[in-house]
Amino acid sequence: MPITNMIKQIIRPLGLRKVLYFLLLMCGVLIFYLMRYQLTSSSKHQARLSAKQQETIAKSSQLEGVWTWKCHNEKCERHARTKQDGPSVSLTTCNMLCGSMQLWPSPTGPVTLGSRALIFTVDQIHLETVLVGAIKELLDNAFINFVDNVAKTSRNKNGDSKYSDINKFRVFINVIDSDTTKLYIGTNESYSLTISTIETDLVVSIRAGTFFGARHALETLSQLIWWDELTHGGVLKVLKLASISDSPAFPYRGIMVDTARNFIPIESIKRVLTGMAANKLNAFHWHITDSQSFPFMSTRVPKMSRFGAYGRDMVYHPEDIKDIVEYARVRGIRVVIEIDTPAHAGNGWNWGPTEGLGELAVCVNEQPWSAYCGEPPCGQLNPINPNTYNVLEKLYTDILELSEETEIFHLGGDEVNLECWSREVKWNDSKLNYTDLHDLWGVFTLKALERLKKANGNKLPKYVIMWSSNLSKKPYTTKYLNKNNIVIQAWGPFQWGQTLELLQEGYRLIISHVDAWYLDCGFGRWRETGEAACDPYRTWQSIYMHRPWDSISFNKGKILGGEACLWSEQVDADSLDSRLWPRAAAFAERIWSDPIVNPFSGFAIDESVYTRLSTQRDRLMERGLIAEALWPQWCTQNPGMCL
Ligand SMILES: *[C@@H]1O[C@H](CO)[C@@H](O)[C@H](O)[C@H]1NC(C)=O
Ligand SMILES: *[C@@H]1O[C@H](CO)[C@@H](O)[C@H](O)[C@H]1NC(C)=O
Ligand SMILES: *[C@@H]1O[C@H](CO)[C@@H](O)[C@H](O)[C@H]1NC(C)=O
Ligand SMILES: *[C@@H]1O[C@H](CO)[C@@H](O)[C@H](O)[C@H]1NC(C)=O
Repeated sequence: MPITNMIKQIIRPLGLRKVLYFLLLMCGVLIFYLMRYQLTSSSKHQARLSAKQQETIAKSSQLEGVWTWKCHNEKCERHARTKQDGPSVSLTTCNMLCGSMQLWPSPTGPVTLGSRALIFTVDQIHLETVLVGAIKELLDNAFINFVDNVAKTSRNKNGDSKYSDINKFRVFINVIDSDTTKLYIGTNESYSLTISTIETDLVVSIRAGTFFGARHALETLSQLIWWDELTHGGVLKVLKLASISDSPAFPYRGIMVDTARNFIPIESIKRVLTGMAANKLNAFHWHITDSQSFPFMSTRVPKMSRFGAYGRDMVYHPEDIKDIVEYARVRGIRVVIEIDTPAHAGNGWNWGPTEGLGELAVCVNEQPWSAYCGEPPCGQLNPINPNTYNVLEKLYTDILELSEETEIFHLGGDEVNLECWSREVKWNDSKLNYTDLHDLWGVFTLKALERLKKANGNKLPKYVIMWSSNLSKKPYTTKYLNKNNIVIQAWGPFQWGQTLELLQEGYRLIISHVDAWYLDCGFGRWRETGEAACDPYRTWQSIYMHRPWDSISFNKGKILGGEACLWSEQVDADSLDSRLWPRAAAFAERIWSDPIVNPFSGFAIDESVYTRLSTQRDRLMERGLIAEALWPQWCTQNPGMCL
């Protein structure tokens, strides 16, 4: 009110022009105050900016760059940028060009990498090959997956940037054996890859033994590509020059995931396969049922999942499994499905009596459980009921059909509780007289193998895997386990010596030592009684350092490879990724490259391994996996300063 009075008083004695001068002055004062306000409350101001505007501001301040990375002794050092430095160099770009190769798992053959990069765009990438037919189709799908991964590396939300140093990004692929479209133990997975330039084209040349080697080469190529956020506001770069030869140390490189203690949805299983492909792992061992639940929907015995699944939506339908098998194959992975028996089988097997088939399983959900099994709920197949074997044969037929995997078959076979059988089975059948129930177990195994053979067109799969157990010890090995068919998955701690005994006896092995490669350990107890199953936590370093074959001097060639295991008592879709990654990547380098470690000289694991694994973890994140952090980010930004 006083202001309007004041204005009226001023206007009256003065003319219109003076009023305008006065208003102009007031405007000036207003602008001055607004500018001051903006300067003193920039944080409030920023909160009002759209996310997009903020991103632009963040980008431009990054471009100005307080820090830059300089390559010194094959290590990137962080420096405050000075005027003489020119444009800032990003950490990723420095790492990629600094002579410290960032490939994971590290190649086993010679590697030569240039120190210059070229800018390109996703839509410049083209496949060039003379291959035709089934392999071409498979390769096309693998190539789509590769391009998709490169696109994920690009943070350019609005499609490609317009910058490029090249005309075309040409990828030539040739394989020696163009007939192999399925992975076998003997499949040649080796490849060689070169990057060069011809005129204005970038030319990648891949030569591989089979499709599977070519696929690995594409994976390696994707690791020679990175996102440089500091050039032109963000561009994709690729090394200008490279030459790599590579092949795996072991033919079987597996990850086991249990989907019975807790259900894991198909989409989550695909994420496991995505991570495996990025680390050149090639066998997905799907522990699909256990005594808790039976989510495998069998076409031939639909009652199994009807009675055994946790819920109607917690079931793997035949088409889900086919989908997984194809998704895996494109990524160079075979799927080995295990229905564990005779132990670890309960829920899902309990409908026999009502159908007139008798008890198919005994001790199901028995209490007190600790007398009849290693963890609740109990359950073990009834070995003296002939119907048990009829059901098994049907399940085997389903698995062979769906997985299209007839070279490797997993029979299960761990942790049979003889107490359960002794109480439930032995005394009921007068025809049987086992003084040692291991013989009942052995006879069960022979009968199951007979049914597997029938299900597989009267031929046993070449590699029938069984978990190590009391049956895979003398004298039962010679009595029941034919080493020409049976492969033992050795999971007891290496110190137990069973691994050595089995090798001495001439068995082929897959190593899964619980003290090194069980990824579920270390999360404490999930029940009141007993201790936590297998404390402590296995760090990535201990996984990486485990190299049991180093101290073995005989039959080393019988070791087909290894498998890292994730039992799912305390994991489901929500924590699956972080429980697996990046530790399973550490396992992958052990089993693909088998780098020599020397625990007696300086650091057991070289600093460059830390940095490379950190880079690999970033790649897994780019592909959408939620991999756990390795260390403080400061250590990533300051290579070599955290050991
Ligand atoms: C495997 O493939 C490579 C090409 O990557 C080839 O040089 C090598 O001879 C092949 N090995 C065998 C055993 O066929
Ligand atoms: C194997 O047998 C030994 C004794 O012979 C027993 O103590 C052990 O619990 C058995 N292991 C399993 C997994 O049943
Ligand atoms: C064995 O006999 C007992 C009692 O005689 C019975 O409760 C149990 O169900 C029988 N077990 C099997 C597997 O037939
Ligand atoms: C079972 O076999 C043992 C020796 O192998 C014998 O002593 C026992 O009498 C037999 N029991 C039956 C019921 O046949």
